[in-house]
Amino acid sequence: MQGHSIVRLSKMESTVIYSSFTVLFFLLLLLTTVSASSSSHPTPSFPKQALPTKSGYLSVNHASKSAIFYTFYEAQNPTSPLSQTPLLIWLQGGPGCSSMIGNFFELGPWRVTKSLNLAPNPGSWNRIFGLLFLDSPIGTGFSVASNPSEIPRNQKSVAKHLFAAITEFIRLDPDFKFRPIYITGESYAGKYVPAIGYYILHRNSRFNLAGVAIGDGLTHPVVQVATHALNAYYVGLINEKQKNELEEVQSEAIRLTKLGNWSEAVEARTNALGLLRNMTGLATLYHYTRKSPYEDDLVTEFLKSKEVKKALGANESIVFEACSDTVGEAMKEDKMKSVKHMVEYLVKKTRVLLYQGQFDLQDGVVQVEAWVRTMKWDGIEKYLNADRKIWKVNGEIAGYVQKWESLTNVVVLGAGHLLPSDQSVNSQAMIENWVLQKDLFGNGDYQQKDVLQRFI
Ligand SMILES: *[C@@H]1O[C@H](CO)[C@@H](O)[C@H](O)[C@H]1NC(C)=O
Ligand SMILES: *[C@@H]1O[C@H](CO)[C@@H](O)[C@H](O)[C@H]1NC(C)=O
Ligand SMILES: *[C@@H]1O[C@H](CO)[C@@H](O)[C@H](O)[C@H]1NC(C)=O
Repeated sequence: MQGHSIVRLSKMESTVIYSSFTVLFFLLLLLTTVSASSSSHPTPSFPKQALPTKSGYLSVNHASKSAIFYTFYEAQNPTSPLSQTPLLIWLQGGPGCSSMIGNFFELGPWRVTKSLNLAPNPGSWNRIFGLLFLDSPIGTGFSVASNPSEIPRNQKSVAKHLFAAITEFIRLDPDFKFRPIYITGESYAGKYVPAIGYYILHRNSRFNLAGVAIGDGLTHPVVQVATHALNAYYVGLINEKQKNELEEVQSEAIRLTKLGNWSEAVEARTNALGLLRNMTGLATLYHYTRKSPYEDDLVTEFLKSKEVKKALGANESIVFEACSDTVGEAMKEDKMKSVKHMVEYLVKKTRVLLYQGQFDLQDGVVQVEAWVRTMKWDGIEKYLNADRKIWKVNGEIAGYVQKWESLTNVVVLGAGHLLPSDQSVNSQAMIENWVLQKDLFGNGDYQQKDVLQRFI
């Protein structure tokens, strides 16, 4: 860029005679142009129509300045009065990854393009529902941890902060008070989603919690970590010798988890996944047919811009990171701990959706199926014996739905770990039909009538 401008300058000098003032004026103009275009990426732009309905900070307790960053997008075409329109809350995984990845790369109304612009997402989850992204735990994304010691180290602290933030968010607008709330999230949010759901129900709070949804989640690690070798073997990615080797490393993670040797157990799991990556040579375990990793670093580039931070009302002194190592470290001892008992509680009190992308080898179909089988719940036998139905969207096969009463499981074809990024329109159909209990996601006529009364 700079070299090109210098050439233009010398050409101008040799062919045109200017008065000294005019030359000075052009020089200044050129200098301004050069400095504005000297960064390696184009300056991201933030079209007005892409701005969230509101965004900013929600405090996590009165005694500190720590706060959770949020972006909220109201429903684009609500089919009910806003005061009754469902409100989805999205939590990213990690631990320590920002929900802005979900927002700008997966399910938000605008996604970052390769040229660092925003383009509308046809599969956005806010077509008919309100959609709230929270950067949690504090220290993640644009959230502020005023002191590192305040960063949660376990699910109860995470839930406590989230509860305070959601309470404050609902207080912003009296119309939010009666809206049905659905807590959703992905990956490590397989821990957060049950934890905040459980916390809300135990507090007997006035939140109108209507369901929880987990995509490609880590929920009951001790059983999930035991599945990788067989999964990869039957998909055809490793041979029997490699399967045996991988099983040994997995067993170590299981042994240490059972001992409650938490940080050693996490490392053993990391080793198992690292070994699988080495054996297979895959670009990412998140999606075994991809030739390169997900390009979510586009979001990081986009959110580094001062102009974008300003537009979002984010603290401009924060350098955005997709995932915070500090938060990851704080939550390390939590990683192999199970929240299965919380899901067992939630499935009795509210509705639970578990959905996985077909190509995810980390927290995918096989990993979730394995822990769900071990659930202690009256309905588990009926659920396991329920038919797995073929699910179609716009006449084409989209995946499979298995359901018994409050528990629904969906396998989404052609998707990996960042499922709404891979199958945006189908993921939208899934969440809408599950929330509204339509078609395969309903319980027959009786339930459907019930839902119509609630939402129309
Ligand atoms: C945890 O596991 C490591 C490695 O096996 C061992 O050295 C350490 O003593 C264990 N700690 C506890 C508290 O069991
Ligand atoms: C994977 O391969 C890299 C490079 O050879 C090596 O450094 C690393 O230790 C391997 N990881 C595991 C878990 O075997
Ligand atoms: C902005 O972030 C910085 C760095 O985390 C923090 O020290 C500061 O208190 C934050 N400002 C506000 C207004 O929250």
